[in-house]
Amino acid sequence: MTTPRTKILVTGGAGYIGSHAVVELYQAGYQPVIVDNFSNSQESALAGIESILGTTVPIYRIDCADEAALRGVFAAEPNIAGVIHFAAFKAVGESVQKPLAYFKNNVGSMLALLAVMPEFGVENLVFSSSCTVYGIPDALPVTEATPTKPASSPYGRTKQMCEDIVHDVAAAPDNKLRTILLRYFNPIGAHESAKIGELPLGVPNNLVPFITQTAAGIREKLTINGSDYDTPDGTNIRDYIHVVDLAKSHVVAVQRLLDHKATDTVETFNVGTGHGNSVLEVVKTFEQVTGQKLNYSIGPRRPGDVPAIYADATKAAEVLGFRTETSLADSLASAWKWQQTLAK
Ligand code: UFG
Repeated sequence: MTTPRTKILVTGGAGYIGSHAVVELYQAGYQPVIVDNFSNSQESALAGIESILGTTVPIYRIDCADEAALRGVFAAEPNIAGVIHFAAFKAVGESVQKPLAYFKNNVGSMLALLAVMPEFGVENLVFSSSCTVYGIPDALPVTEATPTKPASSPYGRTKQMCEDIVHDVAAAPDNKLRTILLRYFNPIGAHESAKIGELPLGVPNNLVPFITQTAAGIREKLTINGSDYDTPDGTNIRDYIHVVDLAKSHVVAVQRLLDHKATDTVETFNVGTGHGNSVLEVVKTFEQVTGQKLNYSIGPRRPGDVPAIYADATKAAEVLGFRTETSLADSLASAWKWQQTLAK
């Protein structure tokens, strides 16, 4: 008889990062169970996951902020060992237009989880936070000890609020919850199989899907949002991490919690490569690695953009043993392969 796989609930498991995490979890020997309401994901992600894994993954089509529905999932899936909480709205610009929707969804789903988990004795949580909590940092690279700054958008504020909520819950006298907060830098690229990847609805907000859609002829031209920043080539600097590398950080975080190796009730880790690349470097690298000439021009600055941010990735390396493996060039090649697959 084979021992059953350890069950991990993955909220937002059909989304961009969530789907890659589901694959890595399963391949590491866990049994992922997906919760997703498909508000910003597509059913085709499930087919991709199944095709990679050669098996189906349980999926509950509910809103994670619906506490009663969430309770039903925990009741139907006994022995959940931990939760990875991805489910959230993530568009910075949209959050300025619809702040209430962001607070209701992003904070609401966190509150629902924190209410239901203890009812079922589930004590391990990995939360997808963001480097957006650092705002415009005074010094680079940012470490986990870099002070957070006022968020530049309601989206960013929801991430800060969720971190604060977790800290307050963890400080309560009867607390049993242990949480790892993962502060992601900029995830890009797709699974090497090109069976799962980013599925932006409408015009992409993010740089890499905009680049691949421009190269594919879906968009006429990429506009680079400003070249007059105080950076070596004048364009913004970010830390671009391959989505499969990012997904793997969740597996090691879960493992750490289940092994009772966490040294604090809340631990925080940057998840980035530790290297910054400018927008122009990304464009040039994309052109080199794909052989595609990209139509682009320099436009005005985008309101709210941080001039430069990249991770100090030392803590994740030393404590989690986590290091990224994929270069920017390979990440961009995987994004292009995925774009070509989508076109078919
Ligand atoms: N950019 C362009 N042209 C575009 C799109 C983006 O020049 O058409 C530039 C941006 O101005 C920025 C860089 O490419 O300098 C990266 O932009 P993204 O929109 O891809 O990513 P952001 O760094 O703005 O945002 C990401 C996540 C957010 C998160 C934020 C934290 O998308 O969820 O990092 O800094 F909050």
